[in-house]
Amino acid sequence: MSFSRRAFVKTVGLGGVAAFSGSYIPRTYELPEFWTAELLAQERPLLLHNNENPAGPGERALAAARSTLGEGGVGVGRYAMSSPETNEAGLRRAIADRFGVAPGNVILGLGSTQVLRTAVQAYTSSTKPLVTATPTYEECTQYAELIGSAFTEIGLNDKMQLDLDEMAAAAREGAGLVFLNNPNNPTATIHGEDAVMGFIDDVLTASPDTTILVDEAYHDYATDPNHRSQIPTAVKNPRVLAARTFSKAHGMAGFRVGFGIAHEDMVQELMPWHSRMTLNTLGIAAAKVSILDTGRLEAESVRNTEARQFTIDWFKNAGFDATDSQTNFIFVNTGMAAQEFRDGARENGVAVGRNFPPYEKDWARISIGTMDEMRQAVEVFAKVLRINATAAA
Ligand SMILES: Cc1ncc(COP(=O)(O)O)c(C=O)c1O
Repeated sequence: MSFSRRAFVKTVGLGGVAAFSGSYIPRTYELPEFWTAELLAQERPLLLHNNENPAGPGERALAAARSTLGEGGVGVGRYAMSSPETNEAGLRRAIADRFGVAPGNVILGLGSTQVLRTAVQAYTSSTKPLVTATPTYEECTQYAELIGSAFTEIGLNDKMQLDLDEMAAAAREGAGLVFLNNPNNPTATIHGEDAVMGFIDDVLTASPDTTILVDEAYHDYATDPNHRSQIPTAVKNPRVLAARTFSKAHGMAGFRVGFGIAHEDMVQELMPWHSRMTLNTLGIAAAKVSILDTGRLEAESVRNTEARQFTIDWFKNAGFDATDSQTNFIFVNTGMAAQEFRDGARENGVAVGRNFPPYEKDWARISIGTMDEMRQAVEVFAKVLRINATAAA
């Protein structure tokens, strides 16, 4: 494949789009629309737009953060590395213990965003493209564009899953990095273990220098037994990196902690690109406890599954299709333009997800809140979609 600075677009699969854009001019930076003062000024808007955890961190994690703050906040007057409770080595050890790996297999990040960006920085260039999907989580694509790396976006298959065959075909042509978001944001779909392992095998057999980044941000919310983490593969295979975050099931988006697990050689490759001293004292202290609080994580998954099922059932009873969500958000065919649905919901105090081309004409992403929040939200959705709420219940 040759790369030019002109964009070209070709169609792959049902409604899928594979695009290469060689634009080397960074986009003008704008705050995402959901952070407008207007929305924040609304009285207690229901925030179902960012796939956050409405319950927040577990009690143990919170207690650790509170105690780290110390009398009068003196704990945050120090750099995190000044205390054995908050230095990064301790968090790497805790994560390693949790997954039965060595601390040398763990790379920390200011959210998993930093891990994703580091991988793009280290493994892509103008001649070694990022291969990713569309729609999927856009961080890697946007960062590749910012730093002048080539990228190829592959449309989804007719089940709204990542099109692994097309992605593998694109990767074989010398990709620097493949971004595999499993479960995928925004469609909430997964590929089971066999498919993912087959894909990794395919890509690395044809293109052994390519790196595969499996983003498992929503792993703890997946309930399909076919879903498996690729952490065990990543530890063994020096070309596979698994990314995780504390922002979702751990309820710590505001603490900004994420991590990657990889072969020690890959961690060594990534470290020079990694900005240091980005993690904060409170986040490290909370994450160190949260990662080992597996009971809390299981309870959070149960809570989410119940509210997710309630919401999907409500839409299905009302005649709307939704994908089989394995995450803390759902992707629903409302039959209405995403913008119209979003504006209508927002006027009634509920924020839902943005446009996800090419599905923006009729699909919406809705994050799962508490059961009470979802009961309120469906009343609003009924109003916006002009249906009878009780008929759908
Ligand atoms: C798939 C996926 N990966 C990564 C992130 C980034 O999360 P964070 O930087 O908070 O870890 C998100 C955020 O929504 C996401 O959806």
